[in-house]
Amino acid sequence: MTLAYDWAGRVGDTWADQWRRTDLSFANLSPHLNAAILDAAPETGTAVDIGCGAGGTAIALAAARPALTVLGIDLSRNLVETARERGAAYPNLRFEVGDASELGGITADLLFSRHGVMFFDDPIAAFARLRCAVAADAHLVFSCFRDVTLNAWAIETGAAVTGTAPQKPGTSPGPFAFADADHVHSILQASGWAGDEQPIDYSYRAGEGEQAVDEALAFFSRIGPAAARLRELDGAAQEAGRERLRGVLVAHLRNDAVDFPASAWIWSCRPA
Ligand SMILES: C[S@@+](CC[C@H](N)C(=O)[O-])C[C@H]1O[C@@H](n2cnc3c(N)ncnc32)[C@H](O)[C@@H]1O
Repeated sequence: MTLAYDWAGRVGDTWADQWRRTDLSFANLSPHLNAAILDAAPETGTAVDIGCGAGGTAIALAAARPALTVLGIDLSRNLVETARERGAAYPNLRFEVGDASELGGITADLLFSRHGVMFFDDPIAAFARLRCAVAADAHLVFSCFRDVTLNAWAIETGAAVTGTAPQKPGTSPGPFAFADADHVHSILQASGWAGDEQPIDYSYRAGEGEQAVDEALAFFSRIGPAAARLRELDGAAQEAGRERLRGVLVAHLRNDAVDFPASAWIWSCRPA
């Protein structure tokens, strides 16, 4: 479970520190998501990135739609600082620290998110609030992970550390909270939205280059299920867990890249 408190603190700080590696992990999903966002994006008006993180998706939209005002919102001060530095060249782009579940005082034409909408304590209330912050003909486009069993990057790396597979996540706030499409349909319906989901299988790139395995090891030691399990160990047990993790990464090394099977939904929604 990852709560607002975690994102505003330690977890957000870690993502800010690791933004190049998190962007790399999404590199083979982003072209699909960015195309869906562009399909829905007007030439002018206002678009809001929910849980913008280090800003990669908002920057891509601001670059493609120079007359559209793009606002990124995130709970993490350090991620917003990183996003501001990365996006400084785009006059139509700004980033703010804030809780997107309390978005107000705005009438957006587009809401979008790369994996930033699965962490609301009360998703129906949050999506209802977002519904109140958009125009009647607005779009909402977001990505989220599909079932954990379709995401070997999570299962295999988590299992490597302790030898036991991670428990199947439920719908508590976290990376797999929106894995069940029926659950998401029910949230959308209860909050005034209607949407369709598209499954996208992609390669989750954990590391690349001559040091690809070391890169991937550094990444998974800080972010994801393996990192959570490593934090619970110390001394020799932690070192042994890290070595087993390295073994899994080596097994996924091809042509200077460590890639894992991954699968996400891309949701395209409209006010109901
Ligand atoms: C998995 S990360 C994705 C970050 C970014 N969209 C990306 O693709 O790199 C989830 C992000 O959602 C943000 N987040 C979670 N709950 C939020 C909320 N209620 N309001 C604003 N941001 C939130 C987190 O701080 C984090 O940056």
